[in-house]
Amino acid sequence: MKIVHLWLKFQVLIIQLGDKKFRPYLSAEEIAWAVSRVSEALNEKYNGKQPIVLGVLNGAFMFCSDLVKTLTCGPEIHFVKVSSYEGTASSGNLSRLIGISAELKDRHVILVEDIVDTGLTVDVLRKELAAMGPASVEVATLLFKPDAFRGSQKPDYTGLEIPNDFVVGYGLDYNNLGRELPELYVIND
Ligand code: XMP
Ligand code: MG
Repeated sequence: MKIVHLWLKFQVLIIQLGDKKFRPYLSAEEIAWAVSRVSEALNEKYNGKQPIVLGVLNGAFMFCSDLVKTLTCGPEIHFVKVSSYEGTASSGNLSRLIGISAELKDRHVILVEDIVDTGLTVDVLRKELAAMGPASVEVATLLFKPDAFRGSQKPDYTGLEIPNDFVVGYGLDYNNLGRELPELYVIND
């Protein structure tokens, strides 16, 4: 009886996004803790430096919005766009960084990502940014999948390391669904 009850409760928590099911993974409180870890580290490093925060759309919009609320280093906030993923597998076709509206020359730049998976996207973005003559470029990510990583440089600031499973919520999507969820969910099949 008890097991049936628990099983039913678990089923209720499962959500359907398109053709896939997802189960709860990280609560809003756990995410808030991860965000504060990153903002504390950034405040220490960038104190008095007025960095340019470059949020990578679409996935990082929610993380970036929560992160900047507690930044005390006087950031300028901009967003850029890149798209490298279709469905749950990397398409391998990396687009270029578009939409930079700020002058980056001699400025400290913090690239804000929702998740670093293979790391290939961030590798491309670091190179493109470096060509614009910034004083420095660092990468802050909410989530990092060390087991999937094959890039050249790990993120400088990570909220949480997670296993190599597909996650959605808190800005991250499955075919553009699930971005609005305040929690993170992991694929259930
Ligand atoms: P790479 O592999 O280049 O990928 O580091 C980075 C981009 O891929 C997307 N991505 C995910 N999106 N759940 C998602 O919703 C995931 O588990 C996931 N893993 C990678 C994401 O857009 C990221 O910026
Ligand atoms: Mg992204």
